[in-house]
Amino acid sequence: MARHGLAAALLVMVVLAAGCCAPASAAAYLSKLPVALDVTASPKPGQVLHGGEDVFTVTWSLNATQPAGADAAYKSVKVSLCYAPVSQKEREWRKTNDDLKKDKTCQFKVAQQPYAAGSQGKVEYRVALDIPTATYYVRAYALDASGTQVAYGQTKLADAFEVVSITGVTTSIKVAAGVFSAFSVVSLAFFFFIENRKKNN
Ligand SMILES: *[C@@H]1O[C@H](CO)[C@@H](O)[C@H](O)[C@H]1NC(C)=O
Repeated sequence: MARHGLAAALLVMVVLAAGCCAPASAAAYLSKLPVALDVTASPKPGQVLHGGEDVFTVTWSLNATQPAGADAAYKSVKVSLCYAPVSQKEREWRKTNDDLKKDKTCQFKVAQQPYAAGSQGKVEYRVALDIPTATYYVRAYALDASGTQVAYGQTKLADAFEVVSITGVTTSIKVAAGVFSAFSVVSLAFFFFIENRKKNN
């Protein structure tokens, strides 16, 4: 009986150990990360960008006040578009969470590039068509070899800019497409009718 008890205890321990230590990258909390990257974005404060059309530039570099070797673990930099607070109000699905695995602030990836120590990173980005109309700023995370955020930097909230989604245009394209397809059905019927009459004459 005692041996059974021991075996069961061992089994429970093995199961627990497997569960607890499954490969998962370490949790990262924004409030715990050093603000070590200087990030700029080319849109002027309040500038309106159009999805699918407008291009902007983002740059990042290690802040000069960081001690030497602060970036030793940086492997790549991930740049994202983040909802400004004004665009998060009453929208649970855009909510900020300090736990970056649960954070919904920065949902739109702009780019991910290898981190180049000692030089400025830069990317040109065309606003994707699926970016919702909202106010945004830009954040860059430094990621370590496991893909975990280890530092970040972002543009000032006061410099946030607007994205206007192409959805409005899509609606008018849909209307036009609807009109043209209705027209094609009508003309098909019309020519069918003419052909039939020819045959019958
Ligand atoms: C670098 O970091 C310092 C301290 O956090 C900050 O005051 C300064 O504005 C940063 N430099 C730039 C260019 O953002």
